[in-house]
Amino acid sequence: MPKFKTLDDLPADLTGEVALVRVDLNLPMKDGSATDVTRVEAVRPTILELAGRGAKVLMLAHFGRPGGQRSSMLSTSMVVGDVEEVLGEEIMFIPELTGPVVAQSVGILRSGDIGLLDNTRFWPGEEANDPNFAQAIAANGTLYVNDAFSAAHRAHATTEGLAQFLPAYAGRSMEAELKALDAALGTPQQPVAAVVGGAKVSSKLAVLEHLVGKVQHLIIGGGMANTFLAARGVNVGKSLCEHELADTVARIMDEADLAGCTVHLPYDVVVATEFAANPASLRTCNVHEVAADEMILDLGPQATEALADVLKTCRTLVWNGPLGAFETEPFDTATVALARTAAALTQDGSLISVAGGGDTVAALAQAGVTGDFTYISTAGGAFLEWMEGCVLPGVAALEA
Ligand code: 3PG
Repeated sequence: MPKFKTLDDLPADLTGEVALVRVDLNLPMKDGSATDVTRVEAVRPTILELAGRGAKVLMLAHFGRPGGQRSSMLSTSMVVGDVEEVLGEEIMFIPELTGPVVAQSVGILRSGDIGLLDNTRFWPGEEANDPNFAQAIAANGTLYVNDAFSAAHRAHATTEGLAQFLPAYAGRSMEAELKALDAALGTPQQPVAAVVGGAKVSSKLAVLEHLVGKVQHLIIGGGMANTFLAARGVNVGKSLCEHELADTVARIMDEADLAGCTVHLPYDVVVATEFAANPASLRTCNVHEVAADEMILDLGPQATEALADVLKTCRTLVWNGPLGAFETEPFDTATVALARTAAALTQDGSLISVAGGGDTVAALAQAGVTGDFTYISTAGGAFLEWMEGCVLPGVAALEA
């Protein structure tokens, strides 16, 4: 695992320090408040620890994609209330990112106080990773902490550039995330299984290509499984399927064979002629019996049981994407069942389970197992890029 400095490498007493802490406050909003504050909860330990050790803490965050321009609806002031509630502390909102207003605010803050600067993406220098801009931000701090793994796939001034100008540390959430991810794919206990689901193979090609060389069992679910089945000559009726990727999928299966990775595809499936909750046409059948007017919407019970048996032989699991059309009942059945098996094995101590990605987190919550996996990452794009084997710029910048 790459070496990086953490808050443990800082002196116990941080009085006199100004910590610039990159957090991810890109929260889903409805009617002016956040519908999910998991990301704030994730950075709470870092913020409170730095403040508790006497630093002045300045949080830096993006919010949406304002494209280098100010926009009142995308000001980080929108989330101040939610952040204060989770932190249990008052915070000072500072409507700038660089310059005298920030300097004056730092002067007003006392040791242990917390401030939040405005949306880093209001300034074009952020996404351009302009070194002059990063230097101007750094001018108001004495150290840099990155606690935003979910933004670490971006090489931006506040996710990467700042580390060139200030001593850089991983926050507690970043530290936990990197340790969990290393345990899952870096130096995992073998055998390793990966569940890759979701609608389209095309959006996860790089993930599949990377995983076949890393894991012993690759479990394909969701619409992606249809594309694999079709490439094997199975008639998938009117299922969601990328027929044009037949050659690519065949190549991935060949690569898996060569690497000793077993690709698991369903042999029974749940089908219906229309995509609706509990449709009258619902039935379970062998994959070779899907009618021309039917679509595959979930894995069948035999396939689910077989996959549970695979997990029982594994020591590590990494999971991204649901197995079926899980938002609509009863097409969440296989995802829920396999998630519960993984959770039980994790609780028994026989499996290290790491999952990530927006849909995956929602699916695991639906299965009621959020607290039972070893680690669940709230990162979306960053988690996928990590599954592709990419070096994330925000992580690389922390390496000591
Ligand atoms: C996310 O919500 O996944 C992160 O905050 C990254 O956001 P971005 O995709 O706009 O860079």
